[in-house]
Amino acid sequence: MSNQKIFAAVVATLFIMTGTSVFGAKKSSVELGQGMFNDPKLGDSANESSCNSCHASGKGLENAGENKKLTKLVNNCLVGQMAGEKLDGRKAPMRSLKMYIKSL
Ligand code: HEC
Repeated sequence: MSNQKIFAAVVATLFIMTGTSVFGAKKSSVELGQGMFNDPKLGDSANESSCNSCHASGKGLENAGENKKLTKLVNNCLVGQMAGEKLDGRKAPMRSLKMYIKSL
């Protein structure tokens, strides 16, 4: 393989790696969770509320991070309070949201 081809392959690999972590949101993070917490469209919410509308800056959720049923509690609010859809507890979005709640 020529140096030029190797260079092109490295650039392409880097592009794919950063592309999937930013746009595909495969990696969970507190930052991603915080963004979701403030997003009124989270879970295809049918109303204009975000988690933050009722739990401003996470107020009242400081101890919820220790709750073993956290996924369920979050989904209850997503469906009941935000008229949205549940998030899969094993996937990066819910994991991020929980990481943010645990960081409070
Ligand atoms: C329209 C207001 C509203 C919205 C929007 C809302 N919640 Fe809630 N949430 C509540 C109320 C009220 C309670 C407590 C009563 C209950 O359990 O239903 C609660 C309870 C919770 C609890 C349990 C707290 C505890 O310690 O038992 C968690 C965790 C939580 N919400 C997270 C979220 C997250 C994450 C979102 C966004 C996906 C969200 N909530 C959106 C009103 C809301």
